[in-house]
Amino acid sequence: MKLIGTGSALPRKVVTNDDLSQFLDTSDDWIYPRTGIKTRHIISDERLEDLAADAVMKALEDAALSPADIDLLICSNVVNEYLTPGLGCIISAKTGITCPSMDINCACPGFIYAMDIAENYFLAGRVKNVVIVCAEEPTRMASWADRSTCVLFGDGAGAAVFTRGDNFKGTILRAQPDPTKIWQYRPLARTPFDTREVSEVPLQMMGREVFRFAVTAAVQDIHTMLRKNGIEMKDVDYFMIHQANLRIVEGIRERIGAPSYKFPSNIRDHGNSSSASCPILLDECNRAGLFKPGDRLMFSAFGAGLQSAVALLEW
Ligand code: UT7
Repeated sequence: MKLIGTGSALPRKVVTNDDLSQFLDTSDDWIYPRTGIKTRHIISDERLEDLAADAVMKALEDAALSPADIDLLICSNVVNEYLTPGLGCIISAKTGITCPSMDINCACPGFIYAMDIAENYFLAGRVKNVVIVCAEEPTRMASWADRSTCVLFGDGAGAAVFTRGDNFKGTILRAQPDPTKIWQYRPLARTPFDTREVSEVPLQMMGREVFRFAVTAAVQDIHTMLRKNGIEMKDVDYFMIHQANLRIVEGIRERIGAPSYKFPSNIRDHGNSSSASCPILLDECNRAGLFKPGDRLMFSAFGAGLQSAVALLEW
């Protein structure tokens, strides 16, 4: 398959670290050096599905395609206000896309998991054009009394359009199953037959352990992808790393020995937007004209599961 269009959309409301310190025991002095985050976009008077639809329409415009050209829509999302139908169906209805859609919940590496699914549809000859949209509102998962999680996140949507071609060089997906490091529990309606004691638990994250997992998994995944494609580290032009924490990006960069200019980053302005982070970064770099034909882009993402993934494509 071949990438032919990107798009993204962000909530209007921008919240600074100083804004957070008005109601939380935190500060820019703590947040910025530890994470690289200065501001984040947070949903206030918008709806996630509207941002997602906006991102999809921008990506279609960039690809010079119309909603009728799309054969499959894959939506990556951890949580949204609809339990059913899938967010992909709602985005389709808003954009006039009428093909089948599916939702996946693979947390932060969701963009790469979605590309893996899309590639297999192309390899099977079942599709001509696929749109992937990653739409996330993680700010509505964390407890706003928990300074160790809520300061990290930002909301948004990123989309990418693929057609038949061969600039996509593949993915590697990896799982180290452990649901105790990042998790959230949301009980469903209670039936008269339910005898369990269950209550809601906001987003929980074992920050230091997740940090170590992220760096180690990404470095291994990147090396595996290089070997699989018979290329060297110096042959990669840009490393598109999930924007969870600038120190994680820096830890990966140091261990693989690549120069800083190869690591575009937007975490300063966006925080961690889960699976939307990679496609939003991709769209911002695309619109800034960063990439030239033939550039090799290595995507790497990691998160709840614990799961990680890498993808390689040539611009
Ligand atoms: O998307 C993928 C999933 N997420 C990640 O990849 C995140 C991975 N982890 C991280 O990025 C880092 O572990 C964090 C940024 C979450 C935390 O940084 P840390 O250096 O690991 O800090 P810590 O959790 O060990 O906390 C150190 C101290 C604690 O105080 P004490 O116990 O030393 O007195 C915390 O209570 O910092 C305190 N703290 C804060 N202080 C001010 C935690 N959060 C805050 C805060 N403001 N927002």
